[in-house]
Amino acid sequence: MKFDRTFRTVIVLFIILVILISSYFVQDIISKNNVASVEETDLSLTGAKLSDSTYAKMVVSGTWDSAVGVANQFDFTIFNADKYDLANWTISIQVPAGSVLDNYWGSEAELDKSTGLLVIKPTSYNNTILSDGNITFGIIVSAKEAFSPTSLHLQGYKILNNNTSLARRIVEVFIGIWAIVFIGFLVTRLNFRNYREKQKNDIKIILQSMNTFINFIDAKDPYTRGHSKRVAMYAAEIAKRMRLPEDDIQNIYYAGLLHDAGKISVPDAVLNKPGVLTKEERTMIQNHTVAGGKMLVQLSSLKGVRETALYHHERYDGSGYPDGLKGEMIPLFARIVGVADAYDAMSSNRVYRRHLNKDEIIEEIQKGAGTQFDPRIVTYMVDMINDGYVNVVKMETADNDESYGKFNLTEEDIPGVYMGF
Ligand SMILES: [Fe+2]
Repeated sequence: MKFDRTFRTVIVLFIILVILISSYFVQDIISKNNVASVEETDLSLTGAKLSDSTYAKMVVSGTWDSAVGVANQFDFTIFNADKYDLANWTISIQVPAGSVLDNYWGSEAELDKSTGLLVIKPTSYNNTILSDGNITFGIIVSAKEAFSPTSLHLQGYKILNNNTSLARRIVEVFIGIWAIVFIGFLVTRLNFRNYREKQKNDIKIILQSMNTFINFIDAKDPYTRGHSKRVAMYAAEIAKRMRLPEDDIQNIYYAGLLHDAGKISVPDAVLNKPGVLTKEERTMIQNHTVAGGKMLVQLSSLKGVRETALYHHERYDGSGYPDGLKGEMIPLFARIVGVADAYDAMSSNRVYRRHLNKDEIIEEIQKGAGTQFDPRIVTYMVDMINDGYVNVVKMETADNDESYGKFNLTEEDIPGVYMGF
C-alpha cells in the first residue's frame, strides 16, 4: 500500500497520541495502586518512612500511674511533604503483653492482644493526608510498667493530588485539544481526499474532452501536431513562475489547449498553403481568433479560455488582431499564451519554413518585448528557454509531434520573420 507524506505524518502523530494517552492512563493506574511501605525498627523511633518526604514520628509524651500499672501516652505525627496524597494509612506499634488500650484520639485504634500489635487507622475525618499536610493523633496504653514500643510501622497508598498536578492538568488539556484537532484533521482530510478524487476525475473528463477536440484541430493542421499541448504546458509554466493562483494555472493550461480552436473553421487549403497568402486568405486565417471566441462562448465555467482564443494574437503595442487591444487591456491569459504560442511556432517546423535555433528564437522574442509581447512575460519565457524547461516539454509531447524533424529545409529557407497564426 502506498501512502503519501502527509498521510504517513498523520499515522506517526496518531501513534504518538496513542502512546501519550496510554502512558497517561498507565501512570494514573500505577500511582493509584502503588502500595508503598517501609518498616522502621529503630528503637530510637526517629520515624518510619514511606519516603524521604512521607514519614511518621512518635514521641512518648507522658506516663502516670493507672489501675493496670502505668499509663503511657504516645503522640504520633505523620508528615506528608510529597506531591502525592497519602490515603488509607495505618500506623502500628508493638506493645508489651497484657497491655490495655485506655484511650485514643484523632484516629481509630485496635489492639490485638494475642500478638501485642496496636494498629492505628484513620478516621473518616483524616483518612487522607493531603500533599504538604500532616496530622497528629495519640493513644494511651496502660501496661505493667512504662515502655517504649519496639517498632513503628507506617503503611499507606500514595495517590496523585489534583491540586499539585498542574502539569498533569496541562497535559490533559493538551491531549484533549490535540485529540479534537486530530479527529477534525482526519475527517477533513478524508473529505478532502474524496473531493480531490472527484476533482481529479472531473479534470480527467475535461482533458479527455479537450484532447478529443484538439484531435479535430490537429487533423486539419497536421504540421502543428502537438502545438496546442506544448503551448498549454509553456503557458502553465509561465503562470506558475509568475506565481499565479493554482486555479489560474489550471485554467491557463485549458486556455492554451484550446487557443487555436477557431482554426477548425479555416479551410484546409488555406491553412496548409505553403506559398504566400493572399489578403483574403490571410483574413480567413486571422479570423480563427473570432471563430474560436464564438465557439468557446459556452465554456464560461473555465475562466479565460474564450478570451484567450479571441485575443491571443493581439499585440502589446495595439497593432494585433482582432480588436487591436493594447498593453494591459489584453487579458493576461491571452498575453501569456501569445508568448508561448510564438515560441512554439518559432521552434517548430512549419509548412513555409524550418524552425529557428535557440539564439535566434531568444533574439526574436526579446525584439518583440514591448511591441508584440508583454515584456514581463518575455523574461519568463526566455528563462524557460535558457534553463531547458522547453526541452522537457518537447520530450514529453514528442509522441504527439509526429511531423517534427520531417522537414529538410535549409537555413536559407528561414524567412527571418516569425509567421505564427
Ligand atoms: Fe493562433
